[in-house]
Parts: sequence; structure tokens; C-alpha cells
Amino acid sequence: MSGRGWVKWLAAAVLLVGGLLYFYYVFPGRGIGPQQPVPFSHRVHAGVKAISCRFCHPYVERSAGAGLPEMEKCFFCHNVIIPTHPEILKEKHYYETRRPVPWVRVYYVPDFVKFQHRPHLRWGKLECQQCHGAVERLDRLPATKFQMKFCIDCHKLKKAQLDCWLACHQ
Ligand code: HEC
Ligand code: HEC
Ligand code: HEC
Ligand code: HEC
Repeated sequence: MSGRGWVKWLAAAVLLVGGLLYFYYVFPGRGIGPQQPVPFSHRVHAGVKAISCRFCHPYVERSAGAGLPEMEKCFFCHNVIIPTHPEILKEKHYYETRRPVPWVRVYYVPDFVKFQHRPHLRWGKLECQQCHGAVERLDRLPATKFQMKFCIDCHKLKKAQLDCWLACHQ
């Protein structure tokens, strides 16, 4: 074999090992969001148990924010389902001491952007997943800051409002 052949093999081996290390160490952590005070999983609740998004986020069409569920909701089920699980006891402690769970927000737009779910769901007929991704497959939602391009690209595609200063910025 010629000298150059060895160089190619060596390069290929380095790439392979580098790639494996990359996937092993970097990939699993990518896209995983901040740790939440109670490890609530959308995969378990919205995926495996197929609980409707609107059961827990009922204000999504009615008010500006979709809102996070009140703790009462969790205990519809968790008074009987795994009530002594340590994480449920933690949730219960918040509930009994009347402190809201300090969930870490993961989806947000900058303050100067006006975003409302209602027109998107009611008139735009969009699914939650078109903007939030397949949350029912995730244990921990990844931090996502929506850029303006995200709004504009879809508005162009759907021929929706592009009059930004009136509609989206205040
Ligand atoms: C409609 C019923 C229902 C509601 C409402 C509900 N859960 Fe659950 N939850 C379940 C079921 C079923 C499981 C799986 C139990 C098992 O693994 O045996 C579960 C599991 C869990 C677990 C265990 C860890 C895990 O991921 O397996 C945690 C923590 C949890 N839920 C938190 C919550 C919180 C917080 C809320 C309120 C925001 C909530 N749940 C609302 C049904 C519910
Ligand atoms: C059993 C209750 C429950 C169900 C069902 C549920 N969620 Fe949630 N959701 C929560 C809780 C609790 C949080 C806050 C903790 C977190 O971010 O994981 C949350 C957070 C979110 C957030 C992030 C909010 C933010 O900015 O931090 C989005 C987006 C979301 N849910 C979308 C959905 C969608 C879409 C579905 C249906 C596919 C769904 N949820 C079903 C309870 C629920
Ligand atoms: C057109 C895109 C789009 C669709 C469709 C959409 N969302 Fe959102 N959602 C957003 C944006 C943008 C934010 C951040 C808003 C902010 O920071 O004020 C957000 C924030 C949220 C939050 C954070 C909590 C809050 O009060 O703001 C939850 C929960 C949520 N969405 C749930 C849902 C659910 C459930 C559905 C489907 C029924 C849905 N979203 C459909 C774009 C969307
Ligand atoms: C996946 C597609 C999609 C994305 C992403 C999206 N929109 Fe929209 N948006 C629509 C559609 C479709 C309509 C038109 C609904 C209708 O028919 O009036 C709309 C309408 C609107 C309206 C007009 C509401 C009204 O009263 O007429 C505003 C304001 C708006 N969007 C802001 C935003 C902002 C801000 C973002 C980014 C954070 C965003 N949108 C992201 C699809 C999208």
C-alpha cells in the first residue's frame, strides 16, 4: 500500500472515533431543556397517556398566554396514581404550602412582540406541534427563543398578516 493510502485510513479512523465521541457525549444533551423543579414529562402525559394538551393548557385560545396547569389538575390523578412517588410528594408540598411551582419558562418571544395563540388556532387552524414541535415525545422541553424569521416564514407561506409594526410589535 502506498504512503497516501495510510493517510486516508488514518483520517477515516480519526473521523470515525471523533464522530462516535461527538454522538456519545454531545448529542444526548443537545436540545434538552432546563431542569424543572418537578421532572414533569410530556412524553409520559401527552404521549404515552395521551392526555389532551388543552386539558392542561386550557387558556390557550382564551387569553394571551396559554398558561401552565394549576396544581389541582395534577392531583385529579396523582391523589390515586403513584401518590407516594417522591416527585409527586414534592409537587404535593408546593400544593399544600400554596406556593406555585417555579416552572422554568422555555418558550418565549421578546417582550416587545405581541403574540396571541387565538388567531393561530382558531383562524389559522394550526396544530400546537407546528410551532412547538413534537412535545409529546419529549421528557424535558428544550429552551426555544422564537426568532422573527420563524414568524415571517410561516406568515409568508400562509399568506397571513405581514404588517409587522401594527400587528406584532408594540
Ligand atoms: C390524567 C391523569 C394525570 C394528570 C392530570 C397528571 N398526571 Fe402525572 N402521571 C400520570 C400517569 C398515568 C403517570 C405514570 C404513572 C406510572 O408510571 O405508573 C404519571 C407520572 C408522573 C410522574 C412520575 C415521573 C414520570 O415521569 O414517570 C410525575 C413527576 C408526574 N406524573 C407529575 C405530574 C404533574 C406535575 C402533573 C400536573 C401538571 C401531572 N403529573 C398530571 C397521570 C397524570
Ligand atoms: C398533564 C398536564 C399536561 C399536558 C397533558 C400537557 N402539558 Fe404542556 N406543560 C405542562 C406543565 C406542568 C408544564 C411546565 C413544565 C415544563 O415545561 O415541562 C408544561 C409546559 C408546556 C410548554 C412550555 C411552556 C414554557 O414556555 O415553559 C409548552 C409549549 C407545552 N407545555 C405544550 C403542550 C402541548 C403542545 C401539549 C399536548 C401535546 C401539552 N403541553 C400537554 C403540563 C401539561
Ligand atoms: C403559531 C405558533 C404557535 C402555535 C400553533 C402554538 N403556540 Fe404555544 N407558543 C407560541 C409562542 C410564540 C409562545 C411564546 C409566547 C410568549 O412568550 O408570550 C408560546 C407559548 C406557549 C406556552 C407557554 C406558556 C404561556 O402562557 O405562554 C404554552 C403552555 C403553549 N404555548 C402551549 C401551546 C399549546 C397547548 C398549543 C396548541 C393547542 C400551542 N401552544 C400552539 C407559539 C405557538
Ligand atoms: C406555523 C405558522 C405561523 C407561525 C410560526 C406564526 N404565525 Fe402568526 N399567523 C399565522 C396564520 C395562518 C395567521 C392568520 C390567521 C387568520 O387567518 O387570520 C396568523 C396571524 C397572526 C396575527 C394576526 C392576528 C389577527 O388578529 O389578525 C398576528 C399578530 C401574528 N400572527 C403574529 C405572529 C407572531 C408574532 C409570530 C412569531 C412569534 C407568529 N405569528 C408565528 C401563522 C403563523
